[in-house]
Amino acid sequence: MYYAGIDVGSLTAQAVVINSKGIHAFKSMGVKPNPVQSAKAVVDMLISEERVSWNDVRFCVSTGYGREQVQVEGLSQDNMSEISCHGMGAAFLVPEARTVIDIGGQDAKVIRIGPGGELIDFVMNDKCAAGTGRFLEVQARTLGLSLDELGTVSQGAERVLELSSRCSIFCETEVLHYLQRGHSKADIAAGVNRAMAERVAALVRRVGLEKEVTMSGGVAKNAAVRAELERMLNVRLIKYNADSQIVGALGAALMARRMGGS
Ligand SMILES: Nc1ncnc2c1ncn2[C@@H]1O[C@H](COP(=O)(O)OP(=O)(O)OP(=O)(O)O)[C@@H](O)[C@H]1O
Ligand SMILES: [Mg+2]
Repeated sequence: MYYAGIDVGSLTAQAVVINSKGIHAFKSMGVKPNPVQSAKAVVDMLISEERVSWNDVRFCVSTGYGREQVQVEGLSQDNMSEISCHGMGAAFLVPEARTVIDIGGQDAKVIRIGPGGELIDFVMNDKCAAGTGRFLEVQARTLGLSLDELGTVSQGAERVLELSSRCSIFCETEVLHYLQRGHSKADIAAGVNRAMAERVAALVRRVGLEKEVTMSGGVAKNAAVRAELERMLNVRLIKYNADSQIVGALGAALMARRMGGS
């Protein structure tokens, strides 16, 4: 018997199928023009590439910004907030986690959870691109680097250039000025990753950090941001034994198992 979770975010969509043992299959892809198309596409991909029979899925929960539309279209039987789903997914992968940092494309959340993944408190930044994955995308594009490169190139930095602006648009101008003055991409990228980590650390301090700490969402794949955060917060970010981008969908699948009767 299978249970499924679908997470349609602002940039990527994931589908995860679990059974009684744990994760059975998952898929991730870039979003389509609307959430329902995204959900359909990622589920179709999962069915065809992972040979999962959707008829054997007993219950499905959707999450992410398109979660309600996905349910209205009958692709899921219920929907749940991303905050709750990231908490559940993180607790399943790292049972000792009490703080979950989820940085996606359009928002950043710091979630405090209890031993079973239940929500205790959270803070969220969804007002401003600075401090979200969008900030990294804009600066990577200005530097002519891929998102992967932005995280790796800064390892060769000789110094970390400061980005003083609080706004991602002004930071883009600062990055351009540094490039024009002949600074290396490594030094600028190091500054971008540090600026990103500073904003996330401020968010963490607002809700209060409790160990253990783990990080989900796409930005968790940027090793330089992780390292800066570990240094600023003086804490180790425990790595998942799974792709950090599927944590929300995994949490939704776990909710589905709970709701659909395991
Ligand atoms: N390989 C990578 N290395 C570094 N960063 C990455 C990588 N892949 C994605 N990202 C970052 O992850 C972000 C997308 O994260 P994610 O897939 O969690 O977003 P989302 O769930 O669609 O968005 P949201 O939750 O805000 O609606 C991108 O903006 C980018 O900055
Ligand atoms: Mg997300």
